[in-house]
Amino acid sequence: MCGIFAYLNYNVGRERRYILEVLLNGLRRLEYRGYDSAGIAIDSDLSLEVQNENGKCKPYDSASPLVFRQEGKIESLVTSVYSAVDKLDLDLEKLFLVHAGIAHTRWATHGVPAPKNSHPQSSGQFDEFLVVHNGIITNYEVLKQTLIRQGFTFESDTDTEVIPKLAKFVFDQARDGEGGVTFSQVVMEVMRQLEGAYALIFKSPHYPNELIACKRGSTLILGVNELGGETSRHLFHDVKALTANEKPKELFFSSDLCAIVEHTKNYAAIEDNEIVHIKDGSVSILRFDYEKEMPASVQRALSVLNMEVEQIKKGDFDHFMKKEIHEQPGSLTTSMRGRLKDGIVGLGGLKDHMRTIRRSRRIIFIGCGTSFHAALAARPIMEELTDIPVTMEIASDMLDRKALIFKEDTAVFVSQSGETADTLLALEYALENGALCLGVTNTVGSTLARKTHCGVHINAGCEIGVASTKAYTCQIVVMVMIALAIGSDKLSTLAKREDIIAGLTKLPEQVHDVLELDGEMKSLAESLIDEQSLLMFGRGNNYATALEGALKVKEVALMHSEGMLAGEMKHGPLALVDEYLPIIVIATRDDTFRLCNVRDNNSHLFYCFFFLVSSCIIFLFIYSKQQSVIQQLHARKGRLIVMCSKGDASLVCPDGRSRVIEVPQVVDCLQPIINIIPLQLLAYHLTVLRGYNVDQPRNLAKSVTTQ
Ligand code: F6R
Repeated sequence: MCGIFAYLNYNVGRERRYILEVLLNGLRRLEYRGYDSAGIAIDSDLSLEVQNENGKCKPYDSASPLVFRQEGKIESLVTSVYSAVDKLDLDLEKLFLVHAGIAHTRWATHGVPAPKNSHPQSSGQFDEFLVVHNGIITNYEVLKQTLIRQGFTFESDTDTEVIPKLAKFVFDQARDGEGGVTFSQVVMEVMRQLEGAYALIFKSPHYPNELIACKRGSTLILGVNELGGETSRHLFHDVKALTANEKPKELFFSSDLCAIVEHTKNYAAIEDNEIVHIKDGSVSILRFDYEKEMPASVQRALSVLNMEVEQIKKGDFDHFMKKEIHEQPGSLTTSMRGRLKDGIVGLGGLKDHMRTIRRSRRIIFIGCGTSFHAALAARPIMEELTDIPVTMEIASDMLDRKALIFKEDTAVFVSQSGETADTLLALEYALENGALCLGVTNTVGSTLARKTHCGVHINAGCEIGVASTKAYTCQIVVMVMIALAIGSDKLSTLAKREDIIAGLTKLPEQVHDVLELDGEMKSLAESLIDEQSLLMFGRGNNYATALEGALKVKEVALMHSEGMLAGEMKHGPLALVDEYLPIIVIATRDDTFRLCNVRDNNSHLFYCFFFLVSSCIIFLFIYSKQQSVIQQLHARKGRLIVMCSKGDASLVCPDGRSRVIEVPQVVDCLQPIINIIPLQLLAYHLTVLRGYNVDQPRNLAKSVTTQ
């Protein structure tokens, strides 16, 4: 996944150094989306002089763009931009009436990280068309061959390079014909030829002071900041000339809201097949239609961003991952806010579809990575409260197998970003097959949110660390609430539902308590720092915890780690066990004794007795199973670290040989939320101690918009 950003201002009277800083800062905010290379393009009259010195002749009258591309992190780009500025002795203080610049941070898909593969990609000599792109052009090979036959030469290995070259081809053809061609006409023709998913921003010296952005698939946000006055809520009208009285204005394009929040709270999410044309201070949105010659003009009201600048800053923390782990009491509270009232769960996003969901023949949870694990953690309670069978699908595997899916199914798509390509393709597949599609996402306005029939936002707040932490726990809480809402018509599970709701209200406080284990997890990390491998065993509700804990360790600490189903240990993994290999066994109680939640009357006394007996049976069943796993590991001299419920240390490790992590015991379906937190902290400390980048792990990006 890549990040694209653009800044354009009118009548603001800013120096060119300012626009440079806005662009570079925008890239810093988007860096979590990809950090293989980066680039920017801004206007410059001085670059024209540089070009003319070389005896080249420019095919247009306006200022040439100044383009910088650099391999590596944003800070490498910053250094190279300012050193070039110094070397060329550029006068960056020169005032422009209008500034327009575009920027890009890249997660490599086509072509290695290198300046030639960085964006902006160019149409060729004189950079007549420059493009920044997030997404994948699937028919680029065909377009490339066609353009090569037309005399174009290609310099990069990217799919993106066909776009500016195609724009130049379209522009030249139209210019050779009769009359002129507008920037939006050029872009529309380019869109007609492109296949795949993309958000694009175009800049061209043929259209000075204008920017065009368009999208299909990938997310694109427009931010609007009218300085010195209220921003009009209905800003969009046809292009009109900038008048002398026009209010100073700043406009932004961005792949997500994180990069605009420090400038403005007024934004619009651009829809698929829309082209946004900024010219002379006005914004026009055109809807592109393959069938029609002329695009339709679209009116759009601005939304107000519900996010504070603090959310995208580290504050007192050294890293975003640490901050986000510690934010969990607050993010869980926000996730539940307004949704739990008087013991009833209200999820507005589902109410119109509840009848259909309850009648489903099956619920299918679909996601990737951490989101898949969150769904796995919620699966037992979903089955228990709804009496509907729940199956699990990793999105890519579902597509590879063309898994059977029916119109009687409810397909639940779980994705923090709402933009993961595999998940979105699985969504398309489920929609084609007629299933009811429900989305669980953190990203308002994301493709997942827009394309599903119904859904629930997890409201975890901006998650910037590439490794998902607070989104994971909020996803579980939201899916538990979905299970409560679907099962709310069942008398047989009333007591269990009451138990869970009571548990949910106490959860943020208990998460707060678990965070106290930070120091203990740091000392555990110190003891594991040089290990090659770390195993985690879990079962029942906590199989997902083992998988997710291991994923955290491998993705940030770059240490091999595997989560395993404890029941499977004796079927193979036991062979690995010796006195050296560290193994974390999750052995918290899997069901609670319910006495404390039962009210004092006769009918409840019956429930009390019934649930005490059944809870003890389940507890003894699963708990003793985990104890037998521990014993089997001990018998092989295994090096164990046991996670157990508070007060159970001597029960799970009577001989005191193992290291123990004690956590609060909560209602079974919420235990994965408590249990993952020490493992998140462990992964964090291991990473810092091993000297790796916590927030931007090697080779990864926040959401994967390629297959
Ligand atoms: C790991 C992680 C990934 C994502 C996965 C799906 O920490 O964040 O495994 O969970 O790439 O991303 P989303 O949830 O955006 O669909």
